[in-house]
Amino acid sequence: MAQTYHQLRLDLATALAVFLDPEEAHAESLRWFEEGLDLSRSWMVAHGSEMVPAMVRRRVSAWVRRRRTGEPWAYILGWSLFRGHRFKVTRDTLIPRPETELLLEAALDVGRRLKVDRCVDVGTGSGILAISLALETDWRVTATDLSPGALAVARENAASLGAEATFVEGSLLDPVPEPLGLVVANLPYVDPADRPGLQRELAFEPASALFAADRGLALTEALLAQARARRAPACLLEIGAGQGGELCRRALGIGWGKAMVHQDFAGHDRLLVALG
Ligand SMILES: C[S@@+](CC[C@H](N)C(=O)[O-])C[C@H]1O[C@@H](n2cnc3c(N)ncnc32)[C@H](O)[C@@H]1O
Repeated sequence: MAQTYHQLRLDLATALAVFLDPEEAHAESLRWFEEGLDLSRSWMVAHGSEMVPAMVRRRVSAWVRRRRTGEPWAYILGWSLFRGHRFKVTRDTLIPRPETELLLEAALDVGRRLKVDRCVDVGTGSGILAISLALETDWRVTATDLSPGALAVARENAASLGAEATFVEGSLLDPVPEPLGLVVANLPYVDPADRPGLQRELAFEPASALFAADRGLALTEALLAQARARRAPACLLEIGAGQGGELCRRALGIGWGKAMVHQDFAGHDRLLVALG
């Protein structure tokens, strides 16, 4: 059936509202137009009453079929924005979250104050932290991950964004020689016990990027211990809501001189900064 762009956008919002709340469905339909079809809001004002080619309608229908299963939009699209840059994402990588910018900004601030000349991003995933740090500083950047699939995507992102960073496979800081410089990480921190109640979209992301033993704290604590033992001047970690107090105690117990928790815009613990 013939359809204008305006009608297609409205029909899309209605189709998405079957499984999203109406506000989310409206916002997502606008994103699909902008990001997926490359049609800006101003283009829609000028051309929204034009007819949609059948090929475009078929494309949107195929996206709706995938999205209905719970697959996140970023995987359907194949990329996600972070710090204004397009990062390729696949089912091997976590989808970048906006709150991870807090970690990036804290790393820039602490690294400049400590005058570091290098840093390590542990659990790099699609490479957002390593690549942003390489683009925004003159530090030597190394990144690690256990997942070869994630590392391949991170290397591809670094090449397409013109960032210089070294990506190595291995656990935590194992593959990185000293001196380490600043250590930053957004490691898995979700408690596996919370799994049954999580959003269905999360089932599409790699479990190895989400969950950690010991109520989500195991990898964060292991990295704090390794970074301290290997004389990193600071370790900055994204953490989960409600984990701040316990992780501060553990960081101080491990021998860090100072441990501070920062909250995100929703008031949840989101960042742990441990300093020598
Ligand atoms: C929460 S994702 C974060 C990805 C990316 N840093 C970001 O912020 O979008 C965690 C990443 O840590 C990796 N990972 C899990 N355990 C690891 C370990 N022991 N050593 C290194 N990387 C690990 C996972 O493969 C995944 O890519």
